[in-house]
Amino acid sequence: MQLISDPSEMRRWSRAHHASGKTIGLVPTMGYLHEGHLRLIDNVRGQTDLVVVSVFVNPTQFGPGEDFLTYPRDLERDRALIRDRGGHCVFVPDTSDMYRSDPMVTLVAGPLADHLCGPGRPGHFDGVLTIVAKLFNVVEPDVAVFGRKDAQQARIITCMVQDLDFPIQVVVAPTVRERDRVAMSSRNAYLSPQERLAAGAIPRSLAAAHDLYRQGNNESASLIAAIRRVFGEESLIDIEYVAAVDPETLAPVLTADADTVVALAVRVGKARLIDNIVLGAGVDADEVVG
Ligand code: PAF
Repeated sequence: MQLISDPSEMRRWSRAHHASGKTIGLVPTMGYLHEGHLRLIDNVRGQTDLVVVSVFVNPTQFGPGEDFLTYPRDLERDRALIRDRGGHCVFVPDTSDMYRSDPMVTLVAGPLADHLCGPGRPGHFDGVLTIVAKLFNVVEPDVAVFGRKDAQQARIITCMVQDLDFPIQVVVAPTVRERDRVAMSSRNAYLSPQERLAAGAIPRSLAAAHDLYRQGNNESASLIAAIRRVFGEESLIDIEYVAAVDPETLAPVLTADADTVVALAVRVGKARLIDNIVLGAGVDADEVVG
C-alpha cells in the first residue's frame, strides 16, 4: 500500500493508474477510522480497481471553539486498518500543502446549509465543500463514497458534483451502527462510559419517531415531539436540533412521507453527535456491527 503526502505525487499516481486503464475510488476521511469508514472502503472496493483513502483533519470545516485541536488522530493505526481492508493508497497531505496561507477563493454551500447543522456551524459546509473539491482535483477519482450519517454533507457534496460538473460518481453508503444502534463516529471516542450508555437514547429516539410514523402519524411536529420525549428522560444529553426535512432541499416539512429525513444533533458531554433516518426505512434498515 502506497503512502503519499505530496498532492502532486498523488495526482501523478492517479494519472498513471488511469493511463493503464484502472478506475479509482476515493474514501475521504478525517482519520481515526472505525468500522463505518472501513465499510466505505468495502463499498468502493466493489466498484473500482483501486481505492485511495484520504486522511486529513480539515481545519476550515471547524469553527472557533470547536474540536479541531483535540480531534482524535492515530495515523499508524489508520494505515494498518486501511491496508488490512485492501486499500491501495493512503493520501495524508499536510495542511500547508492543501491550503495556501491566504486563499482568496473558497466554495459556498448556499441554501442547503441554511438547515440542520448549518445554522449552528456557520461556514462548516463551505469548508467541507472546499476540501472535498480540492481532494477531487488532486486524486481525480472515478467514484467517491460518503456515509449517510452525515446526510446533509452527502447531499451538499452530491449537489456540488452536479452543479460544478465534476466527472465523479458520488455514492452515499448506509450508516453503520454499533450493537445498541448508536451510529459509529470518531467523536464517540470523547464519550465516558456513562455518556456512551446515554447515547443509546439517540437511536431509540429515532426509532420512536419511526414507530409513530408506521402507526400512521405523519405530522412532523408529532414525530419531533416523540424524539424530544425520549431525550427528556436522559439528563446527559442536550438537544441542538431535531428536524424532519425534505431529502433534496433539506428544508423542514410539515407533513412527512417515506422519503423524509428525520435528523438531529445533540451534545453528550464533550461530543456533538449527529444522526438521522429516512422515515420509510428507520434505524433498523442501517448496517449493524458487533
Ligand atoms: O466526513 C468527513 O470526515 C469530512 O467532513 C470530510 C468529507 C472528509 C471532509 O473533510
